[in-house]
Amino acid sequence: MSTFKAGLEDIVALRSEICFIDGQKRQLVYRGYDISELVGKATFEEVVYLLWNGQLPAAAELERFKEQLAAEAALPEQLVDFLKASPKDAEPMAVLRTAVSALGLFDPDTSVQDREANRRKAARLLAKVPVIVAYNGRLREGKDPVPPKPELGLAANFLYMLHGREPDRMDAEIFDAALILHADHELNASTFTARVVTSTLSDVYSAVTAAIGALKGPLHGGANEQVMRTLLAIGEADRVDEWLEAALARKERIMGFGHRVYKTGDPRADYLRRFSQQLGEKRGETKWYEMSRRLEQLMYEKKGLYPNVDFYSASTYYMLGIPMELFTPIFAFSRVSGWTAHILEQLDDNRLIRPRAEYVGPRDQTFVPVDQR
Ligand code: CMC
Repeated sequence: MSTFKAGLEDIVALRSEICFIDGQKRQLVYRGYDISELVGKATFEEVVYLLWNGQLPAAAELERFKEQLAAEAALPEQLVDFLKASPKDAEPMAVLRTAVSALGLFDPDTSVQDREANRRKAARLLAKVPVIVAYNGRLREGKDPVPPKPELGLAANFLYMLHGREPDRMDAEIFDAALILHADHELNASTFTARVVTSTLSDVYSAVTAAIGALKGPLHGGANEQVMRTLLAIGEADRVDEWLEAALARKERIMGFGHRVYKTGDPRADYLRRFSQQLGEKRGETKWYEMSRRLEQLMYEKKGLYPNVDFYSASTYYMLGIPMELFTPIFAFSRVSGWTAHILEQLDDNRLIRPRAEYVGPRDQTFVPVDQR
């Protein structure tokens, strides 16, 4: 038997052309483009096209892609009814997981397994997931859903559907950049989940539903919501030191810090730190940014740990007026692009993903009838 590694740490499970991470050099690269080549230069739609196709779109290709997404934004009536009927206190990630699974029931291509059909399903998911998240966000606050204006683009349209008014340029650009930063991340837990499901030749909706389930956990995408809950619980910048000391003494994990791959810092956090500061200054409410800075400094001093993507995305989203419960669904909205890129790649050269376990249980037991146990 080969070597056992808890959590599959550092195990290379497959070959991929989509995303490269250098955990020592703090590098994240999509299809050969370092994120510094994309953030602030490309739109999220261009990056999705890149992830799916291996190259950036020409102007006409981008236009066609945006038209395709716009045409796919509407939700089936029955799904809107489901969102309206969902309990107001249901976790939005659970609502999203169920809604994506249900969406598969309405897609005529669900069980068609060719590349073109899978591309259509990927585009449908990318167009519809933000609408599901925004509708659910409004309904749980007792507000009517705001139908999409897809011509705004995925990022601005999401903020529009959530707030009922078009965002200004700065908010839209920062949110678009945040979507780019969350789009893909190699073989993280949810992407691995999506590839495992796909490798059985199940369908795209099953794979994305399972991936949402994996992303939901607080050790993965669920951390961003927990970070904001932490900041709110601390309340003021002058309480950070005392709070952290007590939390570490209780051996708690501090959400938004540490990473399985990045051991010298997460390059995505550099951008999100700046966005958090810019939005805090714009809103005249810099305390979440200041508290985050102090936590970052202390966590480095005390634990040698750096913030990950979830740390500053929390205060960034909060400053964009996004309710905390939607932070992880927004991560899913962006990551649909990476999940589906990996699903398509998996199907291009599929091999069932089926590792082994080292058996450490009892051996040579003999059966004892139930009345004698
Ligand atoms: N707070 C306190 N201690 C920590 C933390 C943390 N956030 N992260 C790691 N450590 C400690 C851990 O206790 C361990 O110490 P020791 O060796 O003394 O037991 C050491 O650092 C190594 O931790 P590990 O659990 O072996 O590292 P891992 O690679 O399994 O964990 C992680 C990576 C992300 C699960 C972990 O850092 C963590 O739980 N972070 C908090 C949750 C979080 O922010 N998740 C988001 C991850 S990034 C984006 C995403 O995937 O969504």
